[in-house]
Amino acid sequence: MIEKKTLEGQNVSLKSLREDGDLTNYFKGINDRELTKYLEAGKKRHTVKDLQDYINRMNTSKDHRLFGIFLNKTYEHIGNITLDNIDMSNRKTEIAIFLWSHHGKGYAIEAINLLVYYAFASLKLNKLYAGAVVQNHASVALFKKCGFEEEGILKMEFLKDDYYDVIRFRLLKSGFSR
Ligand SMILES: CC(C)(COP(=O)(O)OP(=O)(O)OC[C@H]1O[C@@H](n2cnc3c(N)ncnc32)[C@H](O)[C@@H]1OP(=O)(O)O)[C@@H](O)C(=O)NCCC(=O)NCCS
Repeated sequence: MIEKKTLEGQNVSLKSLREDGDLTNYFKGINDRELTKYLEAGKKRHTVKDLQDYINRMNTSKDHRLFGIFLNKTYEHIGNITLDNIDMSNRKTEIAIFLWSHHGKGYAIEAINLLVYYAFASLKLNKLYAGAVVQNHASVALFKKCGFEEEGILKMEFLKDDYYDVIRFRLLKSGFSR
């Protein structure tokens, strides 16, 4: 285990997940074909054991951070957010988010802002990047809203029923204000 952390926002908090915790909402969300249609995770069905193994891998790797997104009022687990491939030699990492319920309430924006601040202030990173399938309008709008800029188009980057182009976004520390 790298470090147990809670990042508290106004409406949501980001908390480390436990393999033996309640994964009911996560299991339902990750296996929802519509919600995951533009995600790598949506390419297969996941068992509870798959989720436990993933949590364990993420929690024991210094190159990754996985947080659950929880509502402050009810403690409901509404999504996950990650930093992947943390590259300390170049001070950069990839950020991704998946919210399976309570859409359109600004919770994704709040979660991204909490993790971005943690990445820049605590991990001392300099650059965050993210990928969104061009057709994933919610994700594209979300990253723009959070101040990310388009870095380019990755052609035929994502394959599911067809090939999809992916917009690569970046946020530099110098461009982030809280
Ligand atoms: C992408 C996702 C996290 C957005 O969640 P959300 O609850 O809609 O996010 P927020 O309420 O914080 O809204 C963020 C902004 O996104 C935009 N947005 C949200 N849904 C949208 C949609 N369907 N179409 C266009 N814009 C949308 C809005 O501009 C919104 O800001 P505003 O309402 O203040 O103008 C969520 O839809 C999701 O998890 N989808 C499935 C997984 C996924 O695609 N993840 C991203 C891959 S990295």
